[in-house]
Amino acid sequence: MENLRINSERLWDSIMQMGRIGATAGGGVGRVALSDLDRQARDLFVRWCEQADCTVRVDRMGSIFARRAGSDNARPPVLTGSHLDTQPLGGKFDGIYGVLAGLEIVRTLKDAGLQTKAPIDVVNWTDEEGVRFGSGTMASAVFAGRYNLDHGLTRADMDGNTMGAALEEIDYAGPEPVGGYPVAAFFEAHIEQGPILEAEGKAVGVVLGAQGQRCFKVTVDGEEGHAGTLPMVQRRDALVGAARMIDAVNAIAFKHQPHPVITVGALKVRPNSRNTIPGQVVFSIDSRHPANDLLADIADKMRRTCEHIATDAGLGLSFEQISHRNTIEFDERCSGDIRKMADRLGIAHMDIYSGAGHDACNLALCAPTGMVFVPCERGISHNEKENARPEDLAAGCDVLLHVILERAGTV
Ligand code: GLV
Ligand code: MN
Ligand code: MN
Repeated sequence: MENLRINSERLWDSIMQMGRIGATAGGGVGRVALSDLDRQARDLFVRWCEQADCTVRVDRMGSIFARRAGSDNARPPVLTGSHLDTQPLGGKFDGIYGVLAGLEIVRTLKDAGLQTKAPIDVVNWTDEEGVRFGSGTMASAVFAGRYNLDHGLTRADMDGNTMGAALEEIDYAGPEPVGGYPVAAFFEAHIEQGPILEAEGKAVGVVLGAQGQRCFKVTVDGEEGHAGTLPMVQRRDALVGAARMIDAVNAIAFKHQPHPVITVGALKVRPNSRNTIPGQVVFSIDSRHPANDLLADIADKMRRTCEHIATDAGLGLSFEQISHRNTIEFDERCSGDIRKMADRLGIAHMDIYSGAGHDACNLALCAPTGMVFVPCERGISHNEKENARPEDLAAGCDVLLHVILERAGTV
C-alpha cells in the first residue's frame, strides 16, 4: 500500500477534459456557478464518479457528494474535494484540481481493489467563487453551520434572482439536508494561487491557515439626467461618487501595508448609457487581513470614508456587509498528517498560509480540516493564463491519497 500512487496522466487528462467546458479564447475557463456550463461540468463529474463505483447525492445547496463505500459505513466519512465553478475569466485548475484529485483517488483505489473502513466522499461545493451572488463559499458555509439554509438559498444576484431559483434552473436543487452529520476530516487540495512554493522549489504546501475576509455591497444613489443639458454644478452623478469611493478604499489598503488587500472587482451602473448621467451604482468590496481586529478597523474606515464622500456629493449611500469570516487556523493533526505523508513519499514541502479563501475555511468550523497546496506557474490565478505542472499536481494528489487512506483506515 505504501507504494500506491495515483495515475498522473489520468488526473491531467481529466483536468484538461473538464477545462473544455466553458473554454475561453484566451486559453482559460469561464464557468460561473449555476450557469448552464456549470451544469455540464457537474453532469460530467457525476458520470465519472458513477463510473468509479461511487453513489452520488446532491444536497439542498446543490453541493455534490460522491461516496465510495467503506467496509463500515456507519463511520463518519472522510471528505475531500473543492469546486468546479470558475471566475468569468478563470483558469483550468483553481478548484477543479481539488475535485478531480478526489476523483483520481477513488479511481486509484478501485484499480487497486483497496477498501477503506470509513467511506470516502468526494465533494463539489456549489459556488465557491461567489461571482454572481456576491459572497463565495456559501454552500460550504451552510454545511458548516455558519449560515442557515434559508440565508444560503435567498442570496440574490445584482438582478434580484436567488441562488435557490438558479439551482432549480440547472436541476441541482438536491433533496439532501445540508450538513448536520459528523465528518471524520476534510482535506482540500488546491493550487497555491501565489508565487511562494514555486520560488522555494517545493511541490507541496502544508496550509496552516487562511486570512480573514469581509465583503461589502455598496449602493450609491444619485439622479439620472441628460448628458447634454444638465449643468455640471447641478448633477448628482452616482458614478463619479463611486469612483471617488473606490479610489479612497484603495488608498486605505496602501496606507496600512503590508497586510490588507482590498479589491473592488464588480460594478453595476444604472442605466449604463453614454448620454445619461448615472443614477445608481452598485459595487463590491472584498477586503482581507490576517488580523481580525485590524480587518474590522479597516471596514470602519471604509464605511466612514464612503459616507463622507456621499454626504459631500449629495448622494445616497447603503454600505452593507454581506459576508464576514475570521482568520482560520487549520487542524494541527491534519497538517501533521500532510507533512508526515509528504516526508514519507519523499516530496519537498513547506508550511504556508493561504491568502485566498477556500471551502476548507468553512469546514474547519465543523470538522478537522487540512489543505494541500501545489505550486502554480508564477503564482498566476483568477486569470486565463493559470497553469500548473502535471508532476506537482500528481505529488499533491499522492500526498492526499495517503493522508486519506490513513484517516479512513484500510481493511
Ligand atoms: C476565492 O477564489 C477567493 O476569493 O479567495
Ligand atoms: Mn478555489
Ligand atoms: Mn478562485
